[in-house]
Amino acid sequence: MTDRIAVIPGDGIGREVVPATQRVLEAVEPEFSFVEAAAGDAVKEETGTALPAETRELVADADATLFGAAGETAADVILPLRQIVGSFVNVRPARAYPGTDALRPETDLVFLRENTEGVYTGHESRLTDDVATLTRVVTEFASERLAEFACEYVEERDEDGFTIAHKANVMRETDGLFRDTVDRVADVRGVPHDEALMDALATHLCLHPEEYGVVVCPNLAGDVLSDLAAGLVGGLGLLPSANIGPENALFEPVHGTAPDIAGEGVANPCATMFSAAMLLEYLDYDEEGKAVRSAVESVLEDGPRTPDLGGSAGTDAVTDAVLGQLS
Ligand code: NAI
Ligand code: MG
Repeated sequence: MTDRIAVIPGDGIGREVVPATQRVLEAVEPEFSFVEAAAGDAVKEETGTALPAETRELVADADATLFGAAGETAADVILPLRQIVGSFVNVRPARAYPGTDALRPETDLVFLRENTEGVYTGHESRLTDDVATLTRVVTEFASERLAEFACEYVEERDEDGFTIAHKANVMRETDGLFRDTVDRVADVRGVPHDEALMDALATHLCLHPEEYGVVVCPNLAGDVLSDLAAGLVGGLGLLPSANIGPENALFEPVHGTAPDIAGEGVANPCATMFSAAMLLEYLDYDEEGKAVRSAVESVLEDGPRTPDLGGSAGTDAVTDAVLGQLS
């Protein structure tokens, strides 16, 4: 059956990098059916809502969604979208590519971040004017589901195993449950794993990123550590991400709408193209996913490159070069 892909360019450079990436997807799989939908600041101005009902339905019914970025309304768009796909894990690769100016060229990391609980459940309260509290939620169910995903991720990619990031020496109950559950699932499945205290891990990742590969994290730790790793590889224009749910998934670059360069035709489309490679693999187009990733990598290495990477090429020239690699 034809896979239906919802395409949401959003605002700013989303409208440049998403169409560029759709050309790449069309080139590797002419059978895909693309349905475009609106979300973000512009549609809110027009209709009063940043995420119209038809966009929600389209995403719910699609096999996968490619999203660009939304401006001021980002939180009103991306949080509900992640809910619609039931995303329980956020996959954030951070890899340094030859030809780019990475702080740590040896970095090749993937963060698997728990995406539904921890300190981001919104259980916050203001007890008095000068005292606020937050309730942290960790369940065996969510930790187990993340661990199962991590084991499959590592097995499918022939990775060496994974590192569990936590702070169970202080948060004994919550991170204790997280660590013990992930540890138990990995033991049962025979997947090699070690663990690291998240604060010490932050230091080690800066000094010796090459010693790590896949890192499995609670929600907040995953948010912070993956952003730290983004700094190691440099260039927001290169970082993809995936929000995976039980039967649906959403793929998006990590960057925003880049208002400073929007409309100039110079946005780097590589992060969105790497996100599309993840989308292809999610839909079991493994060969096509690999082909897109290596086409983008070879263009990064040999050029043409966009100005954020020191080049002078536009989005279209980079896209044409990627298409050239694929043909
Ligand atoms: P940003 O990621 O849009 O831009 C930060 C800097 O990186 C800018 O100088 C920009 O030109 C550059 N940059 C980012 N992506 C690039 C690319 N593909 N090619 C070349 N240069 C690139 O982050 P900022 O400026 O903090 O946010 C701008 C807007 O984007 C805000 O309205 C924010 O709410 C929204 N945003 C949306 C997100 C989403 O929809 N998921 C995520 C982050 C921000
Ligand atoms: Mg973040």
